[in-house]
Amino acid sequence: MSKFNNQYTRIEDAELCSKQFAKREDEKDALSKLRSEFIIPTKGDLKNKKFDFKQKHGTTSQNNSHDESIYLCGNSLGLQPRRTKEYVNRYLDTWASKGVLGHFTEYEGGLPPWLHIDEAIKEQTAKIVGALPSEVVIMETLTANLHLLMSSFYRPTKDRWKIMIEGKAFPSDHYAVLSQIANHNFDPSALITIEPPSSTSPYLSNEHILSVISQHAATTALVLLPGIQFYSGQFFDIELITRHCHALGIIVGWDLAHAVGNVPLKLHDWNADFAAWCNYKYMNGGPGVIGGAFVHERHGKVERAAGDSNMNNDTQLTYRPRLSGWWGSDKSSRFRMDNNFVPITGASGFQLSNPSALDMTSVMASLDVFSLTTMDALRERSLRLTGYLEARLLRYEGGEAPYTIITPSNPAERGAQISVLLKPGLLDHVLHHLEENDVVVDERKPDVLRIAPAPLYNTFLDVHRFIVIFHEACRKALAKPGGAGEHGKGVPHGTAAT
Ligand SMILES: Cc1ncc(COP(=O)(O)O)c(C=O)c1O
Repeated sequence: MSKFNNQYTRIEDAELCSKQFAKREDEKDALSKLRSEFIIPTKGDLKNKKFDFKQKHGTTSQNNSHDESIYLCGNSLGLQPRRTKEYVNRYLDTWASKGVLGHFTEYEGGLPPWLHIDEAIKEQTAKIVGALPSEVVIMETLTANLHLLMSSFYRPTKDRWKIMIEGKAFPSDHYAVLSQIANHNFDPSALITIEPPSSTSPYLSNEHILSVISQHAATTALVLLPGIQFYSGQFFDIELITRHCHALGIIVGWDLAHAVGNVPLKLHDWNADFAAWCNYKYMNGGPGVIGGAFVHERHGKVERAAGDSNMNNDTQLTYRPRLSGWWGSDKSSRFRMDNNFVPITGASGFQLSNPSALDMTSVMASLDVFSLTTMDALRERSLRLTGYLEARLLRYEGGEAPYTIITPSNPAERGAQISVLLKPGLLDHVLHHLEENDVVVDERKPDVLRIAPAPLYNTFLDVHRFIVIFHEACRKALAKPGGAGEHGKGVPHGTAAT
C-alpha cells in the first residue's frame, strides 16, 4: 500500500471495481460535462480503413457512449474539440471572402483579425502556464522553440560551457542540445546527463537532481529539464530546481510538452528563465500544431539608452541577444521595412515569422474549451481520475500483477499519466488485445504502456472499461506460450512509487 493518500485505495474491492462506482464518480463531478466538448473516436472510426468521416461529427451532434472507443492517449495527441471545425471553417471563410484583408478585418462576434490573433491567445495561454501575457508567445514548434531559446539563453563562457539534461530526455531534446553544443564548437562531453541512481527505476528524487546539479555547477551554463517526464510521467519540482540552479548561477529552461494543460504551472512565480511546449497533447490543438514559449519578464526587457526617446533606432536599444525575424519586431514599425529591429517587449520579441493563422485558430478553439474551467479545477479532477486509475491498477485479479507502476505514487509528483512496466515479452500481446477492444493508449518499447486519463474529456467509466480490458489482456498474454508467466512475481509499484 502506498504511503501517499489515495482515497480510492481504501475502498473495498467489490465497490471500487464495480461499473456503478465509476458511473457515480462521473455523475458527482461537475466537470464531467466537458467531455461533450470533444469528439470521442467511435470504435468504428478506429477500425475503419476507408475515409468516410462525412458529417456525422458535426459541431452539435452528441457522443454516443455505447459506440465510443476508450481513448487514454492525450499525453500523445489530444482529442479534437467539437468547436475546432467551426473555428477552422470561419478561418477558411474569412480567407475565401477577404483574401489578404483577413489580416485586418474585424468581424462582429467573429475571430480576431489574423494580425492580432496572437493577443487573445496570449491571455488564455498565460493563465494555463501561470505567466504574464507578455511572457508567453504562440509560435513555431517545440523543438524549434527550444533551439531559438537556447540560441539566446545558452551563452557558454570559458568557465561554464556545459548543458545538463536528464539521461532519459526525449530524443529531440537530446539532439537539440547536442547540436547547440556542437554549434559552439564544443565536443559532446559538454553534455551532462542526470541518470537515475537505480537501474530498475527511472525515478529522479529532488535530492539526487540537486546534488548532480551542484556537482557540475562550476562548469554548467544551462540546465534543461522536462516539467513532466514523457516516459515515467514524473512531475519535477520546477520551483525548487529553478531556485537551486539560480543560486548556483545557472540558467534553467523547461520542456513542458507533457505538463502544459495537464498540471497547474506558475512559471512567473517559480522564476523559470524560459520554457517551451507543444499544443497538441493535453492542449488539444491538433497534430503538429504551432507550439508555445515562455520568457521570464526579466529576460524580455527592451531598454533604450537614458535620454534617448527614439524607440525605433536599433543602435540605442538593449535587449537579450536572440535569433531574430520580422515578426518579433514592434508591430507599429513592422511594416516600415526599414531594417531596424525593434523587438517587442517580452516573449513576442522572439518570434521569427508570421504564424499560421490556421494553427492559431485551432489553438484558439482549444483554449476556449480550457476557458470553461480553470487549471486548478482540472487538476483536482485529474488527481481523482489518476488516483482511481492507480487504485484499479493495484487491484489485479488472478494473482500477482505482471506489471509495475513506474510513475511516482505521490500525486504531487505526477500529472495525469501513469506508466506501467510490463514483464518482458507481454507488451505485444497486451497491445494486440487492447487494440482489438478499441482501447487507445501508447507504448514505449520494449515494455512500457503509458495511460493518461485527460481530465477534460476522460471519465471514471473510461478508466473502468480500460482496466477490465487491460487485465483481461494481461491474463491472456500470460497464458500464451512464451508469455511472462514464468518470469517471477510482479510488484504493484516500482521503486519510483515509494
Ligand atoms: C518531451 C518532448 N519534447 C520534445 C518533443 C518534440 O516535439 P516537436 O516534434 O513538436 O518538436 C516531444 C514530442 O512528443 C516531447 O514529448
